[in-house]
Amino acid sequence: MPPKTIPVDPFDCVIFGGTGDLSVRKLLPALYHRDHDGQVPPRSRIFSISRKPMDAESYRRFVEERVGRHKADPESWDRFLARLDHLSLDAGGSDGWETLRHRLDEIPGQVRVFYLATAPALYGPVSARLGGAGLATPEARVVVEKPIGHDLASAKRINDEIGRVFAESQTYRIDHYLGKETVQNLIALRFANSLFEPLWSATWIDHVQITVAETVGLEGRADYYDTAGALRDMVQNHLLQLLCLVALEPPRAFDADAVRDEKIKVLRALEPIGGEEHALIRGQYRRGAADGQAVPGYQEELSGGKASRTETFVALRVGIANWRWAGVPFYLRTGKRLAARTSEIVIQFKAVPHSIFPRSAGGLEPNRLVIRLQPDEGITLHLMTKEPGPGGLRLKSVPLDLSFAETFTGRFPEAYERLLLDVVRGNPTLFMRRDEVEAAWTWLDASIRAWEEGNEAPKPYMAGSWGPTAATALIERDGRTWHEEAS
Ligand code: BG6
Repeated sequence: MPPKTIPVDPFDCVIFGGTGDLSVRKLLPALYHRDHDGQVPPRSRIFSISRKPMDAESYRRFVEERVGRHKADPESWDRFLARLDHLSLDAGGSDGWETLRHRLDEIPGQVRVFYLATAPALYGPVSARLGGAGLATPEARVVVEKPIGHDLASAKRINDEIGRVFAESQTYRIDHYLGKETVQNLIALRFANSLFEPLWSATWIDHVQITVAETVGLEGRADYYDTAGALRDMVQNHLLQLLCLVALEPPRAFDADAVRDEKIKVLRALEPIGGEEHALIRGQYRRGAADGQAVPGYQEELSGGKASRTETFVALRVGIANWRWAGVPFYLRTGKRLAARTSEIVIQFKAVPHSIFPRSAGGLEPNRLVIRLQPDEGITLHLMTKEPGPGGLRLKSVPLDLSFAETFTGRFPEAYERLLLDVVRGNPTLFMRRDEVEAAWTWLDASIRAWEEGNEAPKPYMAGSWGPTAATALIERDGRTWHEEAS
């Protein structure tokens, strides 16, 4: 059996925004868990950068308080804490960069990961400062989070600014959905089994649904979210990435350029949704209940109950104009304050061409493959079978279930654990290449423009529902239903 973890070279991880929300909720727990599992080599260090006046000791105390609940055992926790340091530096200013360089130079030749957990407006300036301080060495990599821009023009600007300092091969654009176990499993399911690929096209597939539903609201991110909305926050990146993995042609190999070359072909084949009426529904939640608790509406959550036309829900029908997918609609849907937290991809196969069974056997339901990303990761294939027992032939659709939690015991690593170590390894397969980000914006810009020209306010929906009724109508008009509404 190959080992479960692959060793990496010793590294320094420098997190700009080391006291921020992303670091506390995702990055530090991820690094700790990899350390606990013995995957972080000795001599590896983690530097937090922020404006806060803190030294290493006070930063460790901060991490103990805010992140400590993730610790699995005291020994590995202490080892992890000892790797932490903090430098007070204003990422927009000119002071402190020399100190950072000196600290990093104490151990020459290590892999250097610069993680920009900051506002995107700082990606360019921080890259320039890193370059100016001589820190963009060949063993350096820079990691940036979405949103990369607000539209194509701003994305290009940010990419240009980073590109002046770091080569594309050193630039890692994270989409954390690509690090989720089940998302990677989609690639395994398609290309490690002979069963599905012959059926994976317009010949046998009726349509595809991709749902990413959340029960949370703004989570204190109103400033950012109100300028973004669901299309920019979720569709431009996570949902389009999922769509690409469902739709791409078999890559030559599971390597960065082969996979990303195929993804970009899908993005470029997306049909514009601008002109078509009812192909894009936007919604905004009103007060209701989420997770069993009364919650305010979106505009009430914004400070001062500000009026806003930002969408917190979106449903769209997308076509892919290529040989494999012509005529197969992809229905995408995502929103906040929905009825349940669930992310899934549904592949709906076509009905058999002719039924040989008598009416008394009951109707035939077409096969359906459901890939659940969260919660309860797993795959379910709905098959028609004969109901056992006497009384003539009766047919029934039954689920063939592969629950990962039951099949694979042990802890599932979080997306960031995998992705952070891929950066250290220098493997960008699960990261977005510049042309992908820009192709996604090119398509989305046209849709947003068409929407804005229509000047329509988002449709209201009650918190705790499945979104505006127009989203149900979007799919029902085509004679289909959303998965949870059918089951
Ligand atoms: C982020 C979005 O990228 O993904 C958030 O900015 C969203 O608005 C989050 O809540 C969802 O991620 P996950 O992993 O909880 O499904």
